[in-house]
Amino acid sequence: MMTMHKAYITAVGTYLPEKILSNLDLEKLVDTSDEWIISRTGMRERHIARDDEFTSDMGANAARVALDRAGMKVDDIDVIIVATLSPDYAFPSTACLIQSTLGAKNAAAFDIQAACTGMVYAMAVAKSFIESGMYKNILIVASEKLSSITDYQDRNTCILFGDGAAACIVQGEGPGLEIGKVSLGADGDQSTLLLLPAGGCRNPATKETVEKRMHYLKMDGKEIFRHAVRRMESAAIECIHQSGLKETDIAYLVPHQANLRIIDAIAKRCKIDDDRVIKVVELYGNTSASSIGLALEKLVVENRIKDKDHLLLVAFGAGLTWGSLILTARGDFTL
Ligand code: COA
Repeated sequence: MMTMHKAYITAVGTYLPEKILSNLDLEKLVDTSDEWIISRTGMRERHIARDDEFTSDMGANAARVALDRAGMKVDDIDVIIVATLSPDYAFPSTACLIQSTLGAKNAAAFDIQAACTGMVYAMAVAKSFIESGMYKNILIVASEKLSSITDYQDRNTCILFGDGAAACIVQGEGPGLEIGKVSLGADGDQSTLLLLPAGGCRNPATKETVEKRMHYLKMDGKEIFRHAVRRMESAAIECIHQSGLKETDIAYLVPHQANLRIIDAIAKRCKIDDDRVIKVVELYGNTSASSIGLALEKLVVENRIKDKDHLLLVAFGAGLTWGSLILTARGDFTL
């Protein structure tokens, strides 16, 4: 009889660039205020990569931390999955660049593009690889240099985004966080609500696209806010119920960090008390695919997870894409 393998997150790691961009710094760039940004987003500061520091560099740094914590050698990595919307190049993939930086010569490598939902999509793919028996040791990296596609003349967007990376190791054996029920979704009909208009084959780079600032991300903030709350709520509730759990069984909510008001709305709708909601948005801003990994690492580092605890991860992003999954602590899960 075929045995079904289970997938466990056995280690996490993060990397944040040194430079900090505060709300006061932003006041000098655009017509905004510290008070407005805090009250509308909950953000105080975000990290910004150096000019010579790229998505693959930050990703490799986070990966090294996770590998070290897992006690895993680079040669043992079977596949590297990278979630990013700000890759070093359109191609080759950032996963291949990270494979080279790490010297992970036995690993296959590819990128996933699901915007801010990327890490949740990557965890779903890693779970399938492990459960099918195809791979045993998987490195997931989420890394973003959003400052490279952010228009620091546009106050509607430039206050929101930050740079950073998170990584996790997914293996066929625990102890760790078992990846349980996954719920993913997408709505391509709403693709224009948040996008990078130029640089792809539809609008290749020209003098005009540069002059029109089309190589920076554009967003309809109000509409995105509305969809984010609705989609994250339904994905989260579906995941909880299809796992045979109740809202009160969730020990921690680990949401995508786009806006404190969005996080609070999801927590309220999922009936999860504030002290069980993990928030890093205040210090990191929205780091897209990396944000859920940065939040998960905070929870792990604080050593708050106990055996059998259920964690609910939920994310939303451009596409539109959304996803939720349940992680259950199995055994003594420490770093
Ligand atoms: N500083 C000061 N005022 C600003 C501002 C800023 N940085 N940005 C916008 N404003 C102004 C607007 O121009 C508007 O002025 P008006 O009423 O004179 O037109 C006013 O503030 C209100 O703007 P509004 O868009 O209604 O604010 P909001 O409460 O919806 O907050 C966002 C704006 C962007 C913070 C919010 O919509 C949001 O977080 N959306 C989701 C973003 C997101 O999650 N993106 C990533 C998806 S993964």
